[in-house]
Amino acid sequence: MNRPEFPACRPRRLRQTPVLRRMVAETQLSAHQLVLPFFARPGKKVRRPIGSMPGVFQLSVDELVKDATAAYAAGVPAVLLFGIPDRKDERASGAYARNGIVQQAVRAVKRELPGLLVITDVCVCEYMSHGHCGIVHRAAGRVLNDPTLPLLARTAVSHAEAGADVVAPSDMMDGRVRAIRTALDAAGFVDTPILSYAAKYASAFYGPFREAAESAPQFGDRRSYQMNPANTEEALREVALDIAEGADMVMVKPALAYLDILHRVKTTFGYPTAAYAVSAEHSMIKAAAAKGWIDERAVTLEALLGMRRAGADIIITYSAMEVCGWLKG
Ligand code: PBG
Repeated sequence: MNRPEFPACRPRRLRQTPVLRRMVAETQLSAHQLVLPFFARPGKKVRRPIGSMPGVFQLSVDELVKDATAAYAAGVPAVLLFGIPDRKDERASGAYARNGIVQQAVRAVKRELPGLLVITDVCVCEYMSHGHCGIVHRAAGRVLNDPTLPLLARTAVSHAEAGADVVAPSDMMDGRVRAIRTALDAAGFVDTPILSYAAKYASAFYGPFREAAESAPQFGDRRSYQMNPANTEEALREVALDIAEGADMVMVKPALAYLDILHRVKTTFGYPTAAYAVSAEHSMIKAAAAKGWIDERAVTLEALLGMRRAGADIIITYSAMEVCGWLKG
């Protein structure tokens, strides 16, 4: 960056008209980059609003297909599926059941909307009676790493068998990308990409999600497996490991409070990088907008543009459908 000499230095020249401003814009936000999360639950005709996430619902598969159809028609290219099972246990058996809730949702969505990219969240917390993202050793009060890996691998393979286009492990166990890649390959799914939640922080911004997914830990917290919000170098090590283990795309989560991490990850590795604008990022905007304190559309678009500027190729957001409308309008 060389410093222009006087009198060239008048940056406002290029801000005079919308045409000029658009022409010199360095970053674009487009619908092609957006992913809309969904929460599937058993039943029929179920639309259960999530109190802390206005506009977001737990949906039975029939309703989920309806909403996914509307989202696809609005221009949303991809969805991320979570499941809330009927029963939880200590082995997360619902996570890898052939006819589990996510597996059913994947089949139904792919049947109706073959062109919609279906990404599945691979984790066990929604399926564990204790709500942790791994097998718990009760006496030691610990979440066990290696014994959890086969469960994650089975879950990922069952999602691929159901027709998932991409699997996205969000558990933060060490070695899970390798375990999942190995299992997918052995099952013949060599072409199924892994989007790894590589730098996932132990964040208070997940609060509303835990209501949505009914996945709050029953004791303790997730700080022994999710990252400390204080750390950057560790995020780069996490991402490096996941890439070495076979991740095709990497994620930083949450987004807004972690744009520096997003930027470092993108510039260091150059990999396709996703930002997850998590539940509280959504709820905060919705709540302030409902009070008339902020302009929802303008604030949402600015936040997402900030993620793009920081280096996100892909943005997971609960506002994906509205954003598609705003980008057209
Ligand atoms: C599951 C998972 C969580 C989120 C995505 N996958 C919750 C958590 O780790 O507690 C959070 C998403 C959001 O807040 O929108 N492990």
